[in-house]
Amino acid sequence: MSEAKRLAAEKAIEYVEDGMIVGVGTGSTVAYFIDALAKIQHRIKGAVSSSDQSTARLKQHGIEVLELNHTGNLSLYVDGADECDGNKNLIKGGGAALTREKIIAEASERFVCIIDPSKQVKVLGKFPLPVEVIPMACSLVARRIMDMTGGQPTWREGVVTDNGNVILDIHHLEITDPVKLERELNQLPGVVAVGLFARRPADVVIIGGEPPIVI
Ligand code: A5P
Repeated sequence: MSEAKRLAAEKAIEYVEDGMIVGVGTGSTVAYFIDALAKIQHRIKGAVSSSDQSTARLKQHGIEVLELNHTGNLSLYVDGADECDGNKNLIKGGGAALTREKIIAEASERFVCIIDPSKQVKVLGKFPLPVEVIPMACSLVARRIMDMTGGQPTWREGVVTDNGNVILDIHHLEITDPVKLERELNQLPGVVAVGLFARRPADVVIIGGEPPIVI
């Protein structure tokens, strides 16, 4: 699948325009995007990064990393996903970077999602849904999630997010109304962000292959 990821990432370079500040997601597919972006870095003003991991890779290539608070809205955000349905709703957060990813997606006019074909699903939920939670609320939120969804939340052992929080992964969901589930989970005190991108789905999805498919 790494070849498919690379092909999707390289296709996304076509969405980068001269003078842009590019929002950059996190993950193995995005790593290929950063490597491709490095080759045209003279054309861009810099990047806003969604994680320490992506910041390190951007800086290794000499790409300037800017603070979202100093850039205003962005024209373009490029990121991967763990699952994508036919309406471009996504599950993200397998790399624990969902909160910053969500912030940058919200700040961006166009969200281009780059995936390999294995990420395409009819109904979201086979991939456990990540939820970032304030540590002291972890057990409370887990109990509420069980009551509310019937799913099985598990603590992602040993993982602390870039924001100092923990991750619960909700197993055994079949997400037929992703906008509603995102809204309901977001309302639980202690939840920082939910890895459902349905209120703000992707605008463009690129599925890696020869040739890549753009939907
Ligand atoms: C990071 O938290 C995630 O949202 C990633 O975007 C997602 O897990 C996709 O990662 P890969 O590109 O490594 O599959």
